Amino acid sequence: MKTKVFDMTAAVNGSDIAAAAEILRGGGLLAIPTETVYGLGANGLDSAAVRRIFEAKGRPQDNPLILHIPEASWLTRYCEDVPEVAWRLAEEFWPGPLTMILKRKPCVPDETTAGLDTVGMRCPDHAATLAVIRASDVPVAAPSANRSGRPSCTTAAHVLADMEGRIEGIVDGGACSVGVESTIVDLTVTPPRLLRPGGLPLEKLNDVLGGVEVDKAVREKLGEGEQPRAPGMKYRHYAPQAPVTVVTGDGAKSARYIARRSGEGVGVVCFDEYAHCFGEAEVRCMGSEGDKAEQARRVFDILRAFDDISVDEIYAQCPDSEGLGFAVENRLKKAAGFQTVDLPFGKTVIGFTGQTGAGKTTLLRELEKLGAYIIDCDALYTEMLESDVTLQNDLRKAFGDEIFCEGKLDRKALGTRVFSDERELAKLNAIVFAAVPRGALQRIREAEQTIIGIDAINLTDCLLRDFCDYTVAVTAPKELRLRRIMTRDGISEEQAMLRMAAQREESYYASRCDHVFINDAETPQKLAQQAEEYLNHLIQELKEDL
Ligand code: TXA
Ligand code: MG
Repeated sequence: MKTKVFDMTAAVNGSDIAAAAEILRGGGLLAIPTETVYGLGANGLDSAAVRRIFEAKGRPQDNPLILHIPEASWLTRYCEDVPEVAWRLAEEFWPGPLTMILKRKPCVPDETTAGLDTVGMRCPDHAATLAVIRASDVPVAAPSANRSGRPSCTTAAHVLADMEGRIEGIVDGGACSVGVESTIVDLTVTPPRLLRPGGLPLEKLNDVLGGVEVDKAVREKLGEGEQPRAPGMKYRHYAPQAPVTVVTGDGAKSARYIARRSGEGVGVVCFDEYAHCFGEAEVRCMGSEGDKAEQARRVFDILRAFDDISVDEIYAQCPDSEGLGFAVENRLKKAAGFQTVDLPFGKTVIGFTGQTGAGKTTLLRELEKLGAYIIDCDALYTEMLESDVTLQNDLRKAFGDEIFCEGKLDRKALGTRVFSDERELAKLNAIVFAAVPRGALQRIREAEQTIIGIDAINLTDCLLRDFCDYTVAVTAPKELRLRRIMTRDGISEEQAMLRMAAQREESYYASRCDHVFINDAETPQKLAQQAEEYLNHLIQELKEDL
């Protein structure tokens, strides 16, 4: 079959419209441009034509199609009991990137709705397509025009790459202006439910509907046997050869995280501002960090590009969920099978590490006075041993029931277990180094403060370091440390020396951090003053950096 291309990029001419409409009326397949992505259209009332869509796409039969209509008044032709809110939404947002799930009328065949008693209705915002649908006088069932499992098509060239020879025609209407598919809201349930974030921001939908519930499948991977309300949400829309990891958080933060793992053989999807950060990696830019509309326009194009680039793994920066960010985030996370590193947005995290007696605690107390939220990882660990079920289970799996006493963890028993056995200690460290960052991240996210200080002797040995915008090694002259430990812990010089000898070298911390703070103040007052000055300066600098 030869696929006929109707070029409507510049002007729309009557005979092309008529010819394209004729393909639809004759039961053929016609790819159509919309403002979101290209659709693969057929007469939605013609079962045989609809079946051909599934064949051409290689689409699973249980995934229903959306009916495209040229104006809201067509709703009553195909839908029963159209609620008042549907008319209001249509008035407000059509033509535009919104699909409403409504009760279907019997004239809509099972092939179109995959047997559901509901049907998705949408009025796309594209002059050529609206003209073709009107001329055909049939509702156009159209999924995105990609082959199943591929990214949606945002240009006619993408459609031809996937569909040439498999369909009768394609209307070339230029590149899609939105770039991600329509927002889908189910109006047959109360409260209305968002089944897919898309080109119409959730906030705008909420302005009209209020209290829209977000379907679970939007935010996370469903478990075995769980069914999303939009059948299509269970399919991974794009499966690159290499595994994808989405990294959230402010651009500077996620860029730093990715840069540490970047290099030859790595693919990076990033905001324009950070393109230079990733060395030998294959880098593709999504647009600038603040321009979510541009990110939406480019996201599928970029994912598609990775088909022809050989990499072992792919990391993607990700916008926050506001506005169009929600749709971009969802498409990236779906491409990643929801493999995500959730770094925080809007927070500056400063990590402190160093030997005991160097004065970390004083420094952090000063930071707290400046309005920061402080996470003391020793205290956090102790707290998690008491209350964190995942940590307790991991410990039980590794060390057995004998480290528990009447259901509670027995720290002494655990200590004895790992005390003189290096392999047991390594086992414990692996568990702790996974748990503490997880707990810290949760506290960072929940904190109201925007500046966070982390106090951790093992800061640079685990994931904690990845959350930090800046790391500081606190050091002090040996003599001073010795005296401080003796006074603080009330122990002899000999005991204090032993304790110091058991620690890592100063250079270990210094070489792993962004900055070394030398704490050589003779009195606590002097130290506090020195710390305050230093921290004020640091906070200022980090703010400018963001
Ligand atoms: O922007 C768009 O919506 C594009 C353009 C072409 O209009 N179309 C599109 O269609 O993205 P498609 O088939 O790729 O995605 C439609 C999604 C699928 O996840 C499907 O499961 C869901 O909508 N869907 C369709 N009818 C439904 C229904 N009655 N109930 C629940 N979900 C439905
Ligand atoms: Mg699709």
